[in-house]
Amino acid sequence: MCGIAGYIGTRNAVDVVFDQLKRLEYRGYDSAGVAFVQADRIGILKRAGKLTQLGGLIEQEKPEANLAIAHSRWATHGGPTDFNAHPHYDQQAKIALIHNGIIENYLELKEELVRAGHTFQSETDTEVAAHIIGREYVEGVSLEDAVRKAVQKMRGAFGFVVISHLDPEKLVCARNASPLVVGLGEGENMVASDIPALLPYTRRVAILENDMVATVTRGEIKVIGLDGRKLELSPFEVDWDIAAAEKGGYDHFMLKEIHEQPAVVRSALAGRIEGHGVALQGLFSDHVWQEIDRVVIIACGTAFHAGLMGKTLFERVLQLPTDVYFSSEFRYGEPVVSPRSLAVFISQSGETADSLAALRLCKSRRIRTLGIVNVVGSSIARECDRTIMTQAGPEISVASTKAYTAQCIVLLLLALHIAQVKETPGVRVGNMVQDLRNFTGYVQASLSLESEMREVAEMFQDAKLVFFLGRNADAHVSLEAALKLKEVAYVPTQECPAGEMKHGPLALIEPGVLAVFGATDSDVREKTVSNMKEVQARGGYVLALTTEDDSSLDSVADRVVKVPKSGSPYLNALVSIVPLQLLAYYVAKARGCEIDQPRNLAKSVTVE
Ligand code: G6P
Repeated sequence: MCGIAGYIGTRNAVDVVFDQLKRLEYRGYDSAGVAFVQADRIGILKRAGKLTQLGGLIEQEKPEANLAIAHSRWATHGGPTDFNAHPHYDQQAKIALIHNGIIENYLELKEELVRAGHTFQSETDTEVAAHIIGREYVEGVSLEDAVRKAVQKMRGAFGFVVISHLDPEKLVCARNASPLVVGLGEGENMVASDIPALLPYTRRVAILENDMVATVTRGEIKVIGLDGRKLELSPFEVDWDIAAAEKGGYDHFMLKEIHEQPAVVRSALAGRIEGHGVALQGLFSDHVWQEIDRVVIIACGTAFHAGLMGKTLFERVLQLPTDVYFSSEFRYGEPVVSPRSLAVFISQSGETADSLAALRLCKSRRIRTLGIVNVVGSSIARECDRTIMTQAGPEISVASTKAYTAQCIVLLLLALHIAQVKETPGVRVGNMVQDLRNFTGYVQASLSLESEMREVAEMFQDAKLVFFLGRNADAHVSLEAALKLKEVAYVPTQECPAGEMKHGPLALIEPGVLAVFGATDSDVREKTVSNMKEVQARGGYVLALTTEDDSSLDSVADRVVKVPKSGSPYLNALVSIVPLQLLAYYVAKARGCEIDQPRNLAKSVTVE
């Protein structure tokens, strides 16, 4: 979750790493700090709070250095205080360390160090790691060997970057589970926890693998394994447009990313539909699809909601039994999966700790795994047997929008691919492919609802409770819409399938409550109308989303929003997420919330 940046070269390294941290702000954090090498010392500046606090300190001190590291911390062990902020020194201030992850055996290690006379300034596991590395870093031992030896004593997840004034021409990085990426420049090199931080400086990057220790100097990056053996990096060029990682004129990344959705749909489909069929490359061979008799979809947050859409498709279109699990429940539950099951992992970041652990569990049981991932080179993308990239480009806002749409499109492509291979009777692949081709236009048209959604948002900015209800795919989209409103506007929500409302949640309806009904599915619309009446009878206000051809709700709902209609109920429901994302955005804006970085939340949850 934490942001990591490190730089060595000819520029002022402090300015570079501070700029890189700003590009990682979206990860969510509550304190930040920087360490730099100057002559015979390592300077550290750190502060609880936002980057502006740290920026003020840097402005005051004006440190200059050619080697620096920086960190934004999302508190786990120890509250968000100045002392707990990274970087941390070792006992003798010979090294400074930044860390992303959790050292699980830190208490055991700390007790041992305390017995040996070490004292600690913070409550963090990271400071323990700094002391362990510092203890190994004695005369005659290189910094990389000290790191290599020390990490073998630690259990848990980590991405470290270490510097020392005793060896001022290098940064040493090590990784186990938490992501680290190195950037290769001309006469300068760098490291970060995520690619967008590197883009203004270089497009040539390489992912550090688990158990690698990298030594980054101005001229080169050398990598060894934990056994000291030399290893090779595999650099690649990032072809993202730099503007794609910046706001491009929008007030917030969230709004920009909502508006990017027509392009995202186009990109998710690019090269994947041909004529009347689907052309997904690099998947399992045909006989494997014949063998698969069950699908388990495993994901967290928004990706879990996309997984529910996948279940609808796999069961309705393919009659393939499908279960959807929260990753955290899957990994500690006793899921029944057989060798004929396919485990599908959906993840925007590809680094969510619980999803990654669930993936490794499936692999240890020899279950086939398929990833649907956005971030290229991420752990889940690399570790799944097969991966389909969602190709949505960098998603910066903590609240996911465009990644969800891309995940749902990829799930539909996958379902159609399986239908093609298995020649599933009754599936009109050609018609659905045509619907997909038209879908970009429908998403574009749904964006024209923006001013209407803004008006609704302003009407209901003070709602004490908002219900989100629907049936079938509309029910799944309702869950995602509710999550958006909670996340960015801090409005309490109650979401459930419309038919379930009478079994409890209805007790919460009273005047002042808004009930948002997804009613795009004409097969069950009449049933949903009864639920709208039940809400109104108790003083609730009904906002209904339906397709443009439907006028049956005009005289029923208090307000009706009409979305473009395609041939498929799945896509009709999916397109309705666009106005609902806009609703959440504008409620948050009206309430003055910090939209791109909601309180307490992080973009990529790399701890359990
Ligand atoms: C966090 C993010 C959500 C995201 C979830 C799963 O909670 O704030 O937006 O849906 O993690 O992340 P993933 O990267 O695995 O899709």
